[in-house]
Amino acid sequence: MTEFKPNYTKPQHLLSACPSYKVSPLIQLQTIAELDLLIKDESHRMGLGSFKALGGIYAVATLLANKWLAATGEKLTLEQYSSIDFKNFSNTTTFICASAGNHGLAVASGAKIFGAKAKIHLSEEVPEEFEKRLLEKHAVVIRSGKTYEESVDAAIRDANNDNGVLLADGSWKNYTYPPSLVMEGYTVIANELYEQFTQLKKWPTHVFIQAGVGGLAASMAYMIREYWKQQPEIIVIEPELAPCLQTSHLNGVLTTVEGDVSIMGRLDCKAPSLVAFNALERAHVDYLTISDKESLDATRILQDKNISTTPSGAAGLAGLLKMYKTEKIKKLISKNNFNPLIIVTENKL
Ligand SMILES: Cc1ncc(COP(=O)(O)O)c(C=O)c1O
Repeated sequence: MTEFKPNYTKPQHLLSACPSYKVSPLIQLQTIAELDLLIKDESHRMGLGSFKALGGIYAVATLLANKWLAATGEKLTLEQYSSIDFKNFSNTTTFICASAGNHGLAVASGAKIFGAKAKIHLSEEVPEEFEKRLLEKHAVVIRSGKTYEESVDAAIRDANNDNGVLLADGSWKNYTYPPSLVMEGYTVIANELYEQFTQLKKWPTHVFIQAGVGGLAASMAYMIREYWKQQPEIIVIEPELAPCLQTSHLNGVLTTVEGDVSIMGRLDCKAPSLVAFNALERAHVDYLTISDKESLDATRILQDKNISTTPSGAAGLAGLLKMYKTEKIKKLISKNNFNPLIIVTENKL
């Protein structure tokens, strides 16, 4: 099954019970000229510094609960997740994944919370800071390959040899369930936004979402199209050096791209997620690519407003700034019909 059909009540229920869970802020800023900008700030999510916490922790919990059900015939209750019995049971499971940083941190945290183990493959490009933070979460860290894709291949081989549970955020033919859980975890963001916009009595007209393998963008797009009261345009933002989703859309088939390394490290994925691509195709989204320089400029603008993030985290704003210059958007602004939303996806390293 490659169709993404999440149940948003499940991650909301489970993650709300975590002591570190808080609704992330929706900030209203006048950033560009007189434009009101809505910012969903994910940079402090669950103490891990990015939205990725929602996916990895939720997926670890669900996969362990599935194992528990298979072994005991019992459905795990919310209280049992923090029991010694469950931690002892989880102790024999090792989660393995590749990561550009944040997904690995989420998987390692989930493993630590529920008593399991984690082994994370990082390519040469991933900053030292992530390695340090992973070790603090008691993960085993392995440097594998020059690119993100090489680290993904290494994690697959490792999981096959080591009998570990592969928990990737990307997906491909015959490997879709764990990454779909990761994406189901991200639905919490759109769910929170639904409540926040309902209270605000104002909905965005345009949503800019940056993409790596596409999990976040697809999860947001699914939730928006399925549930939001007012339908915005959805614009998926990718680095010029890694436009794997846009290229797949133009080709009508999943496509791996080639290119140099982008400074948007967490978005520098050359191969898209199958599940995410299919979901995006159904959600009628537009695509836009940005240069490294545009992402840096956007990072500085946010920094001036005291929002500390990286080029990956500021990529949504970079896309907005690029589109803002077009005649189409100028017209919408003149009619007071442009209320953009961006997501700041991570904290400064
Ligand atoms: C900070 C940040 N922003 C955006 C993304 C893109 O998410 P996805 O790979 O699900 O498209 C990632 C992925 O790791 C990330 O870490």
